[in-house]
Amino acid sequence: MTQTRDSFHSRIGFVLAAAGSAIGLGNIWGFPTQAANNGGGAFLFVYLLVTLLLALPALYAEIYIGNQAQKNPVAALKEACQDTLPNVGKYAGIIGLCGAMMMLSFYTIVAGWMLAHALSAFTELLGLTSISQWLAISSTERNLLFTPLFILLGAAIIHQGVNAGIEKWSARLMPLLLVMLIGLIIYILRQPGAEKGLALYLIPDFSQVTNPKLIISAMGQAFFSLSIGVGGMMVYGSYMQKGKDIGKLAISITALDTFIAFMAGLLIIPALFVAQEAGLEVFSNNELIGEGQLIFKILPELFNSMGNVGLIVSSCFFLLLSIAALTSTISSTEVPVSYLMEDKNLTRSRATWLVSFVVLCASMLLIAFFDELFGLVIRVLTTILQPLSCLFYFIVVGWLWNRGNKLRDKALQEGRKWLPIWGNYLRFVCPLLLSVVFVNVAILN
Ligand code: PFF
Repeated sequence: MTQTRDSFHSRIGFVLAAAGSAIGLGNIWGFPTQAANNGGGAFLFVYLLVTLLLALPALYAEIYIGNQAQKNPVAALKEACQDTLPNVGKYAGIIGLCGAMMMLSFYTIVAGWMLAHALSAFTELLGLTSISQWLAISSTERNLLFTPLFILLGAAIIHQGVNAGIEKWSARLMPLLLVMLIGLIIYILRQPGAEKGLALYLIPDFSQVTNPKLIISAMGQAFFSLSIGVGGMMVYGSYMQKGKDIGKLAISITALDTFIAFMAGLLIIPALFVAQEAGLEVFSNNELIGEGQLIFKILPELFNSMGNVGLIVSSCFFLLLSIAALTSTISSTEVPVSYLMEDKNLTRSRATWLVSFVVLCASMLLIAFFDELFGLVIRVLTTILQPLSCLFYFIVVGWLWNRGNKLRDKALQEGRKWLPIWGNYLRFVCPLLLSVVFVNVAILN
């Protein structure tokens, strides 16, 4: 049975879906947590540099491969390497697919925390205080309830296809998230202690910018935030008609994503210091307490300090974050789903439920061994698997592409408006830069 491929109807449809994939928990939860753990301003500086020098070209390469192949990531990479290393291409695609599953296994847990907090504020508004308190406190039982709930929600949407509903939703709701972020930033910056956080965030300590741990964290965060290295952007690129200016699209997505991450840092890092001023223990040995879960204490406390209005703000804020998480989940799930549909002939519905079931099992494993696995899976994905995949994309676009070298040459030429040495930059500089960082990862591990 041949199934017609889904597609985005317009350029803007693609940008919205890709920005929906990029903007998610990585921006609001991952970026501020990493920045606070790695010296604030120094992290921001290196993050911006890595985004520009490596993540943006990798995003370009990833979208380009998918767009030219018009196939799922496994088939696209196999085809791109056909004449030289077809099996290597195929296995690289499968490794990316495993990365997408790894991402989903922990992402759905954190998204479940968002849902729980949205509901916690809502039940408090209704006067159901004991339920609200249970929902606000992290526990295995809460994870066991909300992770499957989130997976179910995602599956229910994805099995309907590249859905116009969710595209329209994101277009309306993401600006609302930005407005809320700005409102909250204005509020927090007027609280005592905020100026210390602001200084930490905006004034880089340049003595730290060469710290390998910081560089690796910034790179992992940048790759995660742009959804690259697991095939999510490749599959979206494959749903877009050929002939678009991919350089321009990649720049728009990167700019939007980086702006939201920057704004989230402007909210959360000062908020951490406001909380510290109010007596909460926030850092121990310069690291945030509690493996990234602390912001789930700080944010509700910030909302509580605003009285009843705070409860409404809180439930809207966490609900918007849950929706942002949903649009990111969709692109990651689309990687295995498109593979199962196109290469294994499953229907969309079957493929979606099968993938969701595997994700459910994986996330249950993570919940059962949370202390051992949660941080480890994130580190392996963002600092090893995603950079390795991106290195492979550079090599494919720069060297291996054999479907008539015209395509490769076009990819290498297209960015010349932006950067005259674009072709050589993708071929030589990007793989070299990434390899240098990578050697450091190996040494540090
Ligand atoms: N970019 C998303 C975020 O920042 O939350 C996470 C993500 C989505 C990673 C989709 C990978 C992916 F394929």
